[in-house]
Amino acid sequence: MGKNKLEKFADMAGYPHVFEYPYSVVDDVPFEMKGNWNKQFFKNDNPIVLELGCGRGEYTVGLGRMFPDKNFIGVDIKGARMWTGATESLEAGMKNVAFLRTNIEIIDRFFASGEVSEIWLTFSDPQMKKATKRLTSTYFMERYRRFLKDNGLVHLKTDSNFMFTYTRHMIEKNQLPLEFITDDLYHSDLVDDILGIRTYYEQQWLDRGLNIKYIKFMLPQSGNLQEPDVEIELDEYRSYNRSKRSGLKTSK
Ligand SMILES: C[S@@+](CC[C@H](N)C(=O)[O-])C[C@H]1O[C@@H](n2cnc3c(N)ncnc32)[C@H](O)[C@@H]1O
Repeated sequence: MGKNKLEKFADMAGYPHVFEYPYSVVDDVPFEMKGNWNKQFFKNDNPIVLELGCGRGEYTVGLGRMFPDKNFIGVDIKGARMWTGATESLEAGMKNVAFLRTNIEIIDRFFASGEVSEIWLTFSDPQMKKATKRLTSTYFMERYRRFLKDNGLVHLKTDSNFMFTYTRHMIEKNQLPLEFITDDLYHSDLVDDILGIRTYYEQQWLDRGLNIKYIKFMLPQSGNLQEPDVEIELDEYRSYNRSKRSGLKTSK
């Protein structure tokens, strides 16, 4: 039988590669590894890649295996989900993988200017009601700029038409350099070992017959970022498992 939540939390508390800051305790206590992840934890100078909203950490662990010369940190607030990737990477003896349990809203408190090279956003909640909660909003881009290298890469893999369309508008409005875009990854030439990694949520959307979308773009340090002013059709299918979003048809 699998472990329950409390047993998973107990495991996580003893894992050497898991850092837990679930509340805003870092308001008062500075995070001592900020700017020092490589020196103090990874013990190398390799590029650092984040997976934000990593869930079970399929990308963090999968990319960690593919790229031993990069360091990967999965970030999520849900410890029981993170336990899966944290346990797998520990048992596999991976030295280039870590997990940070915290709220992404305060992510800039954990990394110093230029400390991170790349960000993966894997099946992030589209947050259709509130742009400032959306992980590809300019609100979050401003936060990412505080620790991402100039022209650092941002990858978005999503099932959501809303998230995909919104992010495309955000990129266009701010003239961010676009590297790749597809609204049907698995029927494009783009899919490879990296993009073929399937997450838990991804598999659920694929089972429902939804197309997976992917965008890769750069985030320069210069230029004022502006929110796109567009109305986007909401994802009706997202109410399958949730309370009906009655009355909502479009949102900014
Ligand atoms: C839809 S799930 C996707 C999980 C995983 N990437 C996957 O594809 O299976 C979104 C994840 O983002 C996390 N998340 C959402 N907002 C967050 C926040 N503000 N801080 C930390 N984690 C957050 C949730 O806990 C959840 O695990």
